[in-house]
Amino acid sequence: MDRIKLGGSELEASRIVLGCMRISELETGALARHIGTAIDCGINLFDHADIYGSGECERKFGRLLATEVNREDILIQSKCGIRQGATKDIQYYDLSKTHIIGSVDNILKRLETEYLDLLMLHRPDALMDPEEISEAFDQLHATGKVRHFGLSNFNATQFDFIQKYTDHKLITNQVQFGPAASHMINSGIQANTPFDGAADKDGGLLEQSRMNNVTLQAWSPFHYGYFEGIIMDDPKFDVLNAVLENIGRSHDVTKNAVVVAWILRHPANMQTIIGTTDTKRLQNIAQAAEIELTREEWYHIYKAAGNMVP
Ligand SMILES: NC(=O)c1ccc[n+]([C@@H]2O[C@H](COP(=O)([O-])OP(=O)(O)OC[C@H]3O[C@@H](n4cnc5c(N)ncnc54)[C@H](OP(=O)(O)O)[C@@H]3O)[C@@H](O)[C@H]2O)c1
Repeated sequence: MDRIKLGGSELEASRIVLGCMRISELETGALARHIGTAIDCGINLFDHADIYGSGECERKFGRLLATEVNREDILIQSKCGIRQGATKDIQYYDLSKTHIIGSVDNILKRLETEYLDLLMLHRPDALMDPEEISEAFDQLHATGKVRHFGLSNFNATQFDFIQKYTDHKLITNQVQFGPAASHMINSGIQANTPFDGAADKDGGLLEQSRMNNVTLQAWSPFHYGYFEGIIMDDPKFDVLNAVLENIGRSHDVTKNAVVVAWILRHPANMQTIIGTTDTKRLQNIAQAAEIELTREEWYHIYKAAGNMVP
């Protein structure tokens, strides 16, 4: 599988990344096989966040690192900044210096590792202060705990805002993107039309990332809406499923692989973060990296997902 240098840094990462948001569901043996298969498929980057499984995902991964996986052979990224309040209905954001630094210490403990290759701030915090964030980054880098920094779910202006205050190049922005969650490209395709889709919702995030050599990481590729469900075999997306099936047949890959190939085909050189816990599905999806969709196939999938091409 091809690798890219994340945001122009020395980190060479696979185009497909394994998301670890639900790995706490796997028992230890199955998890070891799953991660081993990912590595055999060429995946070398693993995506975590301190909140996944309330820390259990990092903890289980950490146990593998201690026994089955050579830390130096892989890259690990994690995220912080989402906090759970006293009761379940209170979730809030905290990008204060103290919280970022404390979170990384806890992440490293759970992962049983000395360093993160990449730390991302999970979501923008309305109360964030870029100077505090910059100080946290400096301290984490100086102590060798974090090699690089990135953001997640930030719009273009917010990204530039944080970048302006730190000397560390922000190398990634992790955002939702897929055929049925294509808000990042809709306004560009519908530019200069009176249609609703022409409204810019993220300040030109795609172009901003490309101009600044920031790697976009697409999360939840099979989702539609905001965690409403997945497109695979959903009757609401029967046209899309039929098109994916046909294109998949002609390339000899599954529908899931076609969706991922659709993201990888974009010249922004994005990565795709898949979250499957099914090892066979993981192997099938990895084949996406071996095919290249034509322009016509790409637009056909985009339209079949219900999007407009004026
Ligand atoms: N930065 C952020 O805010 C953010 C937000 C969400 C996620 N993420 C990252 O992105 C990763 C991927 O997220 P995700 O797991 O939501 O995305 P996903 O890869 O789109 O998978 C979503 C769900 O679809 C199921 N699925 C996929 N193909 C299927 C098929 N053909 N038939 C039936 N079920 C199918 C998967 O189940 P199986 O396990 O059975 O395959 C999984 O439950 C996460 O692990 C996390 O690392 C980041």
